Amino acid sequence: MNNDSIIILDFGSQYTQLIARRIRELNVFSEIYPFNISFEKIKEINPKGIILSGGPSSVYEKNAPFPAPQIFELNIPILGLCYGLQVIAEIFGGKVKSSQLREYGLAILKIKNKKSIFAGLKDKEKVWMSHGDKVIKIPKGFEVAGKTENSDYAAIVNEEKKIYGLQFHPEVIHTESGMKIFENFIKICKTKRNWVAETYINATIKEIREKVKDDKVLCAVSGGVDSTVTAFLINKAIGKKLICVFVNNGLLRLDEEKKVIKMFERVGINVHYINAEKIFLKKLKGVVDPEKKRKIIGNLFIKVFENYSKKIGKFKFLAQGTLYPDLIESVSVKGPSATIKSHHNVGGLPEKMKLKLIEPLKFLFKDEVRKIGERLGIPLEVLWRQPFPGPGLAVRVIGEVTKEKLDILRNADNIIIDEIKKAGYYNKVWQSFGVLLPVKTVGVMGDKRTYENVIALRVVYSKDGMTADWVNLPYELLNKISSRIINEVKGVNRVVYDISNKPPSTIEWE
Ligand code: XMP
Repeated sequence: MNNDSIIILDFGSQYTQLIARRIRELNVFSEIYPFNISFEKIKEINPKGIILSGGPSSVYEKNAPFPAPQIFELNIPILGLCYGLQVIAEIFGGKVKSSQLREYGLAILKIKNKKSIFAGLKDKEKVWMSHGDKVIKIPKGFEVAGKTENSDYAAIVNEEKKIYGLQFHPEVIHTESGMKIFENFIKICKTKRNWVAETYINATIKEIREKVKDDKVLCAVSGGVDSTVTAFLINKAIGKKLICVFVNNGLLRLDEEKKVIKMFERVGINVHYINAEKIFLKKLKGVVDPEKKRKIIGNLFIKVFENYSKKIGKFKFLAQGTLYPDLIESVSVKGPSATIKSHHNVGGLPEKMKLKLIEPLKFLFKDEVRKIGERLGIPLEVLWRQPFPGPGLAVRVIGEVTKEKLDILRNADNIIIDEIKKAGYYNKVWQSFGVLLPVKTVGVMGDKRTYENVIALRVVYSKDGMTADWVNLPYELLNKISSRIINEVKGVNRVVYDISNKPPSTIEWE
């Protein structure tokens, strides 16, 4: 992809992805590999520098993870962070021991040597620590570049070999001069700073053209950020040889299908619309169990998509909006996380349909995808859309899904989004939506008793969907949303607010 890169060897730190992000923010391409990647493969990649990540292991343990030792003979700069520093210390004959005092949180780094990796820093810097082990004997050929109250060897350097070890985490924003440290490392590596959206778009277009030649590419679009950017990018490369398919599963938000079709048509992308609402609702009839609903929707999507595409021609390629974080989850040394809910994507499709994959976003983080989307002329409203689950409103209509219930929820949801946007919360929160509960309660409207549905409002802050906090919305806004829903949506006489965090509650109710 790019021969001016810095690679990161992952020892299982929760911050590994952040390191790659920081390097890329400095316009240098950076990729993550498992710590035990072979030396041959590293030589093939030919990076300009290597960063060893942190990790939960101890270098003195049996079977502790170590990189291929030849990397230190490559004559390229190496930066070890936390566990990475300890790896360097151990390999070069220093000593690492478990520390009595765990150092966690902010510490003051006293810098002894304000050159190379620490060029331009102050005498004292706030740094973020998170370690139990520490270096107690400095390896030969290294000198101390900085210390903290609890770590005499918080920063060690070997200027001749250009090897640097830091006990703290420059990738975490709490380390105030973290970016400056990475910038210094990049300078030491002498990498070109050419990782920008334009370069990526041009290189990817060229690659797609070379790969596809005269064949055709099929792409499932949903109107979400990833599939939209994928389609726009491929369209730029091969135009009419790309065929997009949009399946309306009947579980979409109000007028969503119209908006999506319009967006693609405006730029001349070939999009086929399949209205499969009836088939989906038929299959979902009488189904109450959330996992069953998810499975039915996922499998049916594959079936509908496959049948339709067979009708419209022969394809060699299938485009998918896979992102970088999806890929590196599988290379990390961490174990696979348990399935809480089976998430729906177009997984199984390529094998089933015997198609080759085209994944033009697979080196990108979400914010990079948005930047590229902007360059490709995709409306900001689409690029900054809140996440919407694959099974759509089916996981927000609790219990059996029917057209009538979906319509009630669609109208309520539309009011929620409208008010949340007007109040300036839409882009501040992770998600804001309504859930239709399977209970009816008594109310009074005019002089009449009512017996109708309840809508639960869910608004959460989150960084990545893994954890979430409910948002303390102003009472006036809650009041506005509640009274509009009750007044404007026929069939609802009560609105409640969900005040549960994740964990233990998930974001979606099913
Ligand atoms: P939960 O409900 O598990 O959701 O706390 C975490 C995030 O994932 C979204 N979500 C999905 N996204 N397919 C998706 O693409 C799915 O099946 C799916 N289910 C949940 C959810 O909206 C939240 O942002």
